[in-house]
Amino acid sequence: MKKSLLACVALLSLFQLNAAEQAPIRISTSETDLIFTVAPNGRLYQTYFGKRLLNESDVTNFLAYQQGGTDGSNSARGWEAYPGSGAEDYYEPAFAVTHNDGNLETILSFVSFETKKIDNNVTETVFYLKDKVYPVEVTLHYVAFNKENIIKTWSEIKHKEKKPVTIWRYASAMLYFESSRYFLTEFSGDWAKEAGMSTQQLQFGKKVIDTKLGSRAGMHVSPFFELGLDGVPAENEGTVLLGTIGWTGNFQFTFEVDNTGNLRVISGINPYASAYELKTDEVFTTPEFIFTLSDEGKGKASRNIHDWAREYQLKDGKGDRYTLLNNWEATGFRFDEPKLEKLMKEAKELGVDLFLLDDGWFANKYPRANDRAGLGDWDVTKEKLPNGVPHLVKAAKDAGVKFGIWIEPEMVNPKSELFEQHPDWAIRQPNRDTYYYRNQLVLDLSNPKVQDYVFSVVDNLMKENPDLAYFKWDCNSPITNIYSPYLKDKQNQLYIDHVRGVYNVFNKVKQKYPNLPMMLCSGGGARSDYEALKYFTEFWCSDNTNPVERLYIQWGFSQFFPTKAMAAHVTSMNKQASIKFRTDVAMMCKLGFDLSLEELNEKELEFCQGAVANYNRLKKTILDGDFYRLVSPYESNHTAVSHVAKDQKKAVVYAYDINPRYGEKLLPVKLQGLEPTKTYKVEEINQMSGASIRFRGGKTYTGNYTGDYLMKVGLPIFTTQQIASRILEITQQ
Ligand code: GLA
Repeated sequence: MKKSLLACVALLSLFQLNAAEQAPIRISTSETDLIFTVAPNGRLYQTYFGKRLLNESDVTNFLAYQQGGTDGSNSARGWEAYPGSGAEDYYEPAFAVTHNDGNLETILSFVSFETKKIDNNVTETVFYLKDKVYPVEVTLHYVAFNKENIIKTWSEIKHKEKKPVTIWRYASAMLYFESSRYFLTEFSGDWAKEAGMSTQQLQFGKKVIDTKLGSRAGMHVSPFFELGLDGVPAENEGTVLLGTIGWTGNFQFTFEVDNTGNLRVISGINPYASAYELKTDEVFTTPEFIFTLSDEGKGKASRNIHDWAREYQLKDGKGDRYTLLNNWEATGFRFDEPKLEKLMKEAKELGVDLFLLDDGWFANKYPRANDRAGLGDWDVTKEKLPNGVPHLVKAAKDAGVKFGIWIEPEMVNPKSELFEQHPDWAIRQPNRDTYYYRNQLVLDLSNPKVQDYVFSVVDNLMKENPDLAYFKWDCNSPITNIYSPYLKDKQNQLYIDHVRGVYNVFNKVKQKYPNLPMMLCSGGGARSDYEALKYFTEFWCSDNTNPVERLYIQWGFSQFFPTKAMAAHVTSMNKQASIKFRTDVAMMCKLGFDLSLEELNEKELEFCQGAVANYNRLKKTILDGDFYRLVSPYESNHTAVSHVAKDQKKAVVYAYDINPRYGEKLLPVKLQGLEPTKTYKVEEINQMSGASIRFRGGKTYTGNYTGDYLMKVGLPIFTTQQIASRILEITQQ
């Protein structure tokens, strides 16, 4: 007994010696340094987060700079990397546990760290932390992507207490900022008005952005934010942090300005109704928080995230994308084989790669004739489509296009055979009235049997139709009645275990069908997070396809996602907008159509065919180039963006007049990302009438210019027409 006590004391002093001697630990990308220091009290502190330091020797200067005393006393306060609850920091903790004896305090001490070089671009730093009093351990991971200037971070929590402990705060990360002022841009909205941007200054106290939707990350607010340090986040200058969490469920960002004027940002799963019972030795892994710090504004920060996403995160991020014709806006639920076959031929006529069959093709006992029945019964409706999906795949093939299909496998209508057979598979209250969102319920994905069933929806379709080339995976309902028959007395785990169950299914699908392109949809753009996008090639931005609205929605999502991941379709919503305007807006992203060619006259059809051909020709630049937001629709009656090929040899510029005033002064649009010394040829494409707009004085702006001229002087590509657009192709000579 005495011996082991002695051994303990010896270990402890060794530990303290190591902590005191530990040099600052530096997490670097090409442009950013995040530096941690172990203080004399043995705890880990963030000492610097900012522009990358040039001199290694400066990295050690931060001990003196540390806020508050870190002298080993318990009154020490500083920027603790992962503060637990109940100690000397009186603000929101990153981590909180109720220990077996009911004690609520946790203080994590530094044990060790390691740095692993994953490859020439990626380095992972892992900190091992431990409470000295309770056997609770936390591991903090920071993965730095050098070239893209991205850091992603998450934590792992485990313990060796005798019985399960309850964890009630479990941040993915905590970051601190020291500036004169802080401005937060959030992306809020609702169904059909996703990712609306608004900015506010943060003052003392907390601003929380979170969701409690259960089955998706967003809808009312998206799981990402921008933070302007010292000033409002600007496009091309100033220090801006872009942060996003990879979690397809309830998330929470807490922004707290403390009494010293420092800002703390905690990102993680929303702990609401989710105090989690963690068994001995079980590992609780938090989602990844992904961020980039730019001192050239949010434009640069967005391009960093786009590059990172295409390289490391998005399913088939480097691959091609199909253009398509979807039938949802054209037919709704009202279609049959001849109607679909006609649309397939139209897809071919348009020149797109694929025909996508949307909702309404399944269920027999309660056919899916509207959104009140059928979800859960994934057999083709015989009366509507007597020859089944194989016939449709073949008909598409005969027409010369590929075939894709819509599913919503995580949901059930109470009016379905699935619900009749497995009422206990739905999340709903056993002893209260049931509330429905779009007449449906969310299946309980915490239940492994339900996971198998959801996987089988894709698997059965693929087994029957190996040539199925594309899926649109929808999720139209948030969780409405939070109770899992499967979890019984562990209801606090439902929000988290449900999302983990969703990932198990996504993962199985990706393992078995790694090359299957899939669109992620959630009643529009409510599922747009980077964990889900590991399993999907693109997401549907919004059910609002009014092109004017889309300009704002796409502007919002483009802050975080490459346009390659953003599906945009030309529809007939807003007939005031010409087919050219509607197409020009969708062509900025992953292009599709959702209309019948019957709605187009000959000239319009010809235009669309030409646009698809242009899109295909310029696809590499549009999907894989650098995206520049040139003029914001939030700050102007117009908007302009561009894609510039990585080799700067080609650019595509999009200009939109939204709601100009009479006699308004029009300024030329300055381009970005070109080589100043090279000459570029400027041509207008996607022309409806053949007539290009002109300089004042009648001279056309098409012609040859240096990159320098185009970036410093710009092109007069806005007009005073309402809802008008033009696309320019710019080619290095
Ligand atoms: C959701 C999607 C739409 C469409 C319908 C079908 O609303 O966002 O694109 O697929 O479901 O019911």
